[in-house]
Amino acid sequence: MDVRQQMDALIEKLNAYNEAYYQQNTSLISDQAFDQLLAELQKLEAEYPLFANPNSPTQRVGGTITKNFSSVTHQFPMLSLGNTYNAKDLEEFDERIRKTLENEPYEYICELKFDGVALSFWYQHGQLIKGVTRGDGTRGDDITNNVKTIKSLPIRVHSSIFPEEFELRGEGYMPISSFDQINEEKIRKGEAPLANPRNAASGTFKMQDSAEVAKRNMECFVYAYLGNENPFQTHEDSLNHIASQGFPVSPTWRKCQNMSEVLQYIDDWAEKRHDLPLHTDGIVIKINDFGQQERLGYTAKSPRWAISFKYPSEIAKTTIESIVFQVGRTGNITPVANLKPVYLAGTVIKRASVHNANEMQRLDLRHGDQVFIEKGGEIIPKITGVDASARKEVNTLFDFPENCPACGSPLQRVEGEANHYCLNDTVCPPQIKGKIEHFIQRKALNIENIGTETIDLFFEKGIVREIADLYDLKAENFIGLDGFQTKSIQNILSGIEKSKNIPFRQVLFGLGIRHVGATIAEKLVLQFHSIENLQQATFEELIAVPEIGERIAVSVQDYFSKEANQNTITRLKAAGVQLSEEITEIVLEGIHLVGKSFVISGVFKNFERDELKAKIIAHGGKVVSSISAKLDYLIAGDQMGPAKLEKAKQLSIKMISEEEFLDMLN
Ligand code: IVH
Repeated sequence: MDVRQQMDALIEKLNAYNEAYYQQNTSLISDQAFDQLLAELQKLEAEYPLFANPNSPTQRVGGTITKNFSSVTHQFPMLSLGNTYNAKDLEEFDERIRKTLENEPYEYICELKFDGVALSFWYQHGQLIKGVTRGDGTRGDDITNNVKTIKSLPIRVHSSIFPEEFELRGEGYMPISSFDQINEEKIRKGEAPLANPRNAASGTFKMQDSAEVAKRNMECFVYAYLGNENPFQTHEDSLNHIASQGFPVSPTWRKCQNMSEVLQYIDDWAEKRHDLPLHTDGIVIKINDFGQQERLGYTAKSPRWAISFKYPSEIAKTTIESIVFQVGRTGNITPVANLKPVYLAGTVIKRASVHNANEMQRLDLRHGDQVFIEKGGEIIPKITGVDASARKEVNTLFDFPENCPACGSPLQRVEGEANHYCLNDTVCPPQIKGKIEHFIQRKALNIENIGTETIDLFFEKGIVREIADLYDLKAENFIGLDGFQTKSIQNILSGIEKSKNIPFRQVLFGLGIRHVGATIAEKLVLQFHSIENLQQATFEELIAVPEIGERIAVSVQDYFSKEANQNTITRLKAAGVQLSEEITEIVLEGIHLVGKSFVISGVFKNFERDELKAKIIAHGGKVVSSISAKLDYLIAGDQMGPAKLEKAKQLSIKMISEEEFLDMLN
């Protein structure tokens, strides 16, 4: 193979892994192995820039610098939408539609109105060739290199339905989690935080260095198909096809037959929308049928076939009455403001988080201040500002405490961190209770039937004073405790027993080591396999693991250096909790089956069923147990069940023999 072929092969392979991961939710290769191949390709691209290929997956991690984005003319202008604020406005919109369509039946598609940056994606011959901002609606900026860092956006498609050229529109956004992370870091460094995720997204997509954009994990939701050729009858069909090709289409849309169903949709999402990874400020209502859309047409600024509905404002003003300092499970101290109760977007708000001392300082919070509170994506509202004009001279500053409000021990603030911590972790009650709650949660040991109140009770009575105590619990311990029936005691005890089968990665997360979240725990387990190995790992060995930095390494070593923690581990081990995990990685032998699903039925000449399964997976395919319309192949052996055969015939599933399957691998 010459260099060029070698590069093309790498591109092909990496793109297939990416597509499997982002478009089919299948992980075919470990992150490490992927990064290695990617690095290999990057090296070749640097050595042979002439062979650079716009399809290269290295584009996903950026690396291009654009001094001035060139301006391009939109094929179809990017319009805005008319706004409505109440049911009456919507009824009027509906009335106009009914008149223009002369009483013929019509349907609406309701979607959420995503609060990010409008983007246009141009595809030609199945390749993403341009990503463009809205600009003034007629011309926008060519930000292709930045758009390619959106990992969930396919850079090529293999659809027989999309025409040679088409365009998709969507909203680019910075996930709230990334936004919060960036701001935490900015605050820690003493820099001004980003104002809100929308501004952050628009700033990020305009960055000159696409590698910086890649670091910010930008995302998008696609919400429209456009093209001179339109293979779809309805918007619904287009969304379904776009989603089936692996594009990120938010599954929040719904078809509505009339305005009362639209109002129901608005109501259903009024609160739930706050659980989404981005802010939404309303909904968009669109006529479903493309023919009807065309007949309804456009005004100079917006389509007549669509309109947006804005949810009522989510900002309120109230008085801050006091600040209490809460102790979290890692000993972090969070200032929480008690507010004069105020009604905000459907709920009465009495408390708001102020995050940390920096945030208190930034807001310059004082006793009796009038503050603005906002509901963002989070459930707990935030104080976002102070009404300085309402402040009286006598208002005095709030002080951050020097001692832990729960146990009185002196607080510490680590250089470079925003949080204050109480270090008395084996004695300080809220920390202990928090650690137990963390340990039993679903993502950790998944011990059901124990709530916060039970933990409080166990703690007060001295029955459970640390996580390992859970495994000593017996029915006798419940004697004399109110509110426990035989059945609920049994449920708690069997939940604890079951937790002994939870894999080590979840147990490690459950230990609650500072900075070791679920993902980091998994990385550590992949590398070290057992608690003993992890405990013996040197600082250098720890930071050699991808994504493990010094902060985490210090925290891990610090955890193991404490006698109380050693004790806990010894007791967990004795109880039979999983503290090691064998992880075997799949070695990929080929990529011909990527994206294909198989059902295996019957008996085979060359393979045991498990071997056949392993073969499919090793070539990138997926094995499923039941036949559905989505299934690609049924591998039929001898003595296959008649019911399966019948169903496969009914759904016209392609049936192949063992030999045909083997042919597919080559
Ligand atoms: S469809 C002709 N659908 O809202 C306009 N737009 O005022 C068709 N937006 O900046 C737009 N979510 O980026 C549509 N589900 C959605 C949307 C959406 C957010 C934004 C869009 C544009 C603005 C339109």
